[in-house]
Amino acid sequence: MNIAIDGPAGAGKSTVAQMVAERLGHVYIDTGAMYRALAWAVDHHGIPVEDEAAVATLLGESTIALKRTEQGQIVLWNDQDITTEIRTPRVSQYASIVASYPLVREQMLHLQRAMASDGNVVMDGRDIGTHVLPDADVKIFLTASIEERAGRRMAELQQKGISADLESLKQEIAERDKRDSERKAAPLRQAEDAHLIDTTGLGLSQVVDRVMQICKQTGEQDS
Ligand code: DC
Repeated sequence: MNIAIDGPAGAGKSTVAQMVAERLGHVYIDTGAMYRALAWAVDHHGIPVEDEAAVATLLGESTIALKRTEQGQIVLWNDQDITTEIRTPRVSQYASIVASYPLVREQMLHLQRAMASDGNVVMDGRDIGTHVLPDADVKIFLTASIEERAGRRMAELQQKGISADLESLKQEIAERDKRDSERKAAPLRQAEDAHLIDTTGLGLSQVVDRVMQICKQTGEQDS
């Protein structure tokens, strides 16, 4: 069973996807981390982020790996561990820009489909249900109010020792939502057959239980 979890920034996709994967014994794949890795490398190598061809070439010449460890999933760019580096607000903005490029998305699509080819994955992102895994057995679209999403991002950053301000986070999230939904190539969109879960006011375990319930119902219908 493949599970696709999509939604806007800060809706809790990665935490939920990770917990669902753990409960089901599936492999968790964070596709946002792949765009973040590329964004980090663009910045690190001083490549102009507005140069689509140069950004796509860099991706073509490099490797991205998501590896499972006891501490959770780590992100490797050309075998360098950049798990912490990719979580800064600067990388978030850059990721949203490089993710708007068709030449980048095309390559990511191949990488992500290859990662899911053995099945039993929980993959989270923006276009998983609509483009990467259109035949996923379960599709979830997670959302929440912008206030709640910014609040969660702030707590997440603080936990990692990165200081942040709520108003600027709200603004950054709104900017990313706009760019991610309005781009031409595979925009952020709820798939027609996705289950919508508004997580505003819900606790993590409530959301995970709801997703597990949907998975169970789907499994029963298919058997
Ligand atoms: O989920 P995230 O915040 O880590 O994602 C970072 C950026 O990557 C986000 O602004 C949009 C982009 N992204 C995308 O376009 N498609 C995906 N499948 C995953 C992420």
